[in-house]
Amino acid sequence: MDKTTRLKVALQKSGRLTDNSLDLLVRCGLKYSRGKDQLMCYGENMPLDILFVRDDDIPDLVQQDVCDLGIVGLNVIEEKRLAFEARGVTPLFEQIMLLDFGKCRLSIAVPDGVRYDGPQSLRGKRIATTYPHILGRFLRQHDVEAEVVTLSGAVEIAPRLGRADFICDLVSTGSTLVANHLWEAQTILESQAAIIRTPVPVSTEKQDWIHRLGLRIDGVQQVKESKYIMLHAPRARLAEIRKLLPGTEAPTIVPLEGANDKVAVHAVCRENVFWETLEGLKAAGASSILVLPVEKMLA
Ligand code: PRP
Ligand code: ZN
Repeated sequence: MDKTTRLKVALQKSGRLTDNSLDLLVRCGLKYSRGKDQLMCYGENMPLDILFVRDDDIPDLVQQDVCDLGIVGLNVIEEKRLAFEARGVTPLFEQIMLLDFGKCRLSIAVPDGVRYDGPQSLRGKRIATTYPHILGRFLRQHDVEAEVVTLSGAVEIAPRLGRADFICDLVSTGSTLVANHLWEAQTILESQAAIIRTPVPVSTEKQDWIHRLGLRIDGVQQVKESKYIMLHAPRARLAEIRKLLPGTEAPTIVPLEGANDKVAVHAVCRENVFWETLEGLKAAGASSILVLPVEKMLA
């Protein structure tokens, strides 16, 4: 296959999104071998190659048409979008899909023992961040003038070094804040992983693979929580039992040989099935209840 027909996908080299991103592609059927330099993966059964880069570089790589797709956090996407706009450059990347991992938030954090009474507390203060554009927009929206101190990392130590009064940084578990004697005062952006793509037209082969990958990712995301449930139900209580099945559309109802008062119910539940659900079903007269994992799903 020639080079121009292979999709290039940018993933975070090491960090919050790395394992989940690679895992997602594997669940979409990708088999890969890793290059010697560890910076690339070659798809063996799909015309798709992965480039491992810093997450902050992913929108730029898509912008420059070096990569066709990228998996990156909304925090980075939004910051880059605002940065491009500030420079009068049209962002050439489109967010095409949200992924249900990499959840975190961009928050204002304050040293322990210092009060925060809302955005007004930031007036005239110095705030350290690696997200100057998102923070700048937040300050403008609240009509607050403050000094934004842009750093490239280690934002959490800025207050201790006397470089800032507050910080604006990503928080997921919150342990970085605790370790640095800071507390989370206000969230300014909720984030999770997303896929971006180039809006530049790609070859038909590539377009076709982007489309297929999108459908497979949808399937993977749906399957995660989905279960296949089978049970026997008294005909008389079918309506009640159907109501108890979480997230199902149309269950299959099959007659049971030799038992006119009972049917078999088979359904895909698009939500987690908990013990409580099964106990409820049993109490409603269901028996022989089986819950099976769903491995693949294509809508
Ligand atoms: C963020 C942030 C903190 C940490 C917070 O960095 O800058 O260091 O995560 O996570 P916690 O609440 O679970 O402790 P990130 O890993 O995104 O690194 P990067 O900004 O260099 O990509
Ligand atoms: Zn980063």
